[in-house]
Amino acid sequence: MVERRDPHLEHFPAGFFDRADEADDAVFYAPERFVTHLDAGAIRAVGELYAELGLDGAVLDLCSSWVSHFAQRPQRLVIVGMNEAELAANPMADEWRLHDLNADPALPFGDSMFDAATCCVSVDYLTRPLAVFAEVARVLRPGGVFVCTFSNRCFPTKAIRGWLSTDDGGRAAIVRRYFELTDGFDAPVAQQRETSWFGDPLFAVSARRTTGVG
Ligand SMILES: C[S@@+](CC[C@H](N)C(=O)[O-])C[C@H]1O[C@@H](n2cnc3c(N)ncnc32)[C@H](O)[C@@H]1O
Repeated sequence: MVERRDPHLEHFPAGFFDRADEADDAVFYAPERFVTHLDAGAIRAVGELYAELGLDGAVLDLCSSWVSHFAQRPQRLVIVGMNEAELAANPMADEWRLHDLNADPALPFGDSMFDAATCCVSVDYLTRPLAVFAEVARVLRPGGVFVCTFSNRCFPTKAIRGWLSTDDGGRAAIVRRYFELTDGFDAPVAQQRETSWFGDPLFAVSARRTTGVG
């Protein structure tokens, strides 16, 4: 029998994916939070980045809530998250699914169904990110882009310890590593986007699904 090592244990230090609150995520996300998790300047920067990357067609927004930060609504938006009322209230969404990615990283979608995928200010809550990134690679069409955006704040009890133990540059390096360790993505690009100097900073790491050519 071939023994398969969990890549999370293999590539990250012990305790990296632990959280202060290890209770079921459904408990923490049960209360509705009709708030924004970024200020207006950072939200605008997310929309500008999505437009610059050409996000359109069928788009999957992971860890979503009542607002997805597209400057222009994509042709079809499917959102996945933890709070039913928030998801149902998202005016850009064509379809929503209540789905705990930590309990089950498998995405309930077919192969190559999406032109793009997004995860805004939430990658820090994933306890099995490599499994989730592998699933995103599966559901993206070749050439489709996955973009993770984040700032410098979070729900600290639900963020993984590795995220909390480093700084902005370290967090970008973590997300880069997730992409690099996942089969099916080209080299990731990390960047800091322009926001107002006194407001929330906005960082992004994105990569395209390999086309398999060359
Ligand atoms: C800080 S909010 C960000 C919401 C939204 N992406 C935004 O930009 O405003 C974190 C989101 O991650 C989602 N989330 C947290 N843990 C999750 C999990 N285990 N599975 C799926 N979604 C999760 C929650 O539903 C919550 O809406």
